[in-house]
Amino acid sequence: MVAVKVNVAYLTFIRPRHVFIIFLVISIILISLLLAGCSSSFSIIPNIYLLHVAYNDGTVYQISDDSTIVNPAISTGLAGLVGVTTYEVRIGFFGICMTNNPASWLCSENATALAEQLTAAEDPLNILHLAQTFREKIVFPYLLIAAAALAFIVFVLILPYPPLLKSASTFVCFLSTLLILISVLWQHTASVSASSSTTSITNGVLTTGVGANAMILGWFSFALMTITVIGIYFFVTINSRAETVVIAE
Ligand SMILES: *[C@@H]1O[C@H](CO)[C@@H](O)[C@H](O)[C@H]1NC(C)=O
Repeated sequence: MVAVKVNVAYLTFIRPRHVFIIFLVISIILISLLLAGCSSSFSIIPNIYLLHVAYNDGTVYQISDDSTIVNPAISTGLAGLVGVTTYEVRIGFFGICMTNNPASWLCSENATALAEQLTAAEDPLNILHLAQTFREKIVFPYLLIAAAALAFIVFVLILPYPPLLKSASTFVCFLSTLLILISVLWQHTASVSASSSTTSITNGVLTTGVGANAMILGWFSFALMTITVIGIYFFVTINSRAETVVIAE
């Protein structure tokens, strides 16, 4: 009975392992895109950012009439000091993009080079410095890089038939998934907290937001890796053992 089942499985061209190989490749591509966010002005790269901060054209951005606000006049006072500017910065893992005109982005890994393009009237509250500080002191890309490297190792281990080091591949895949989870949680928490504090501290003169594309890339690769680690455990590690036992018999 079991022997027949195994033979049928060998005849099937697409095996579960192949699905997980594809998932691993997709995860590596998504992580690479996430890490590449804001590192160049090419195509969609400026749209992959962790956090954006922008002036709201000299007006106050939806300051709430919360009962904890004791000095509501500060918003308009500050907006008057800031003046009219639409400058915006976006922060990625390895770069910052900026613009005065959303159609054309200037991106660089070197914030000093970006600062040289600016006048005081364009960035009166020094949000480029805010962006650079956020990128240098809060964002941490190295866990994601390690996760992508580990995912690649798993890919190499399960690509051949029979897969190499089956138990080890489950463990490495688990480690990669864990690193992605930590990294995405970190990225999400840091961005939401910086976004909310910046708007509050500037009393609504700055608009801020968390980059939805970056969050989707991060959480989606975490979801794919979670399915993959479960799949590799059941279909590669356990099933292959069963096959080996049957063949040995
Ligand atoms: C960044 O740009 C500035 C000005 O263009 C330059 O002086 C500096 O060497 C650059 N830094 C790096 C690390 O490339």
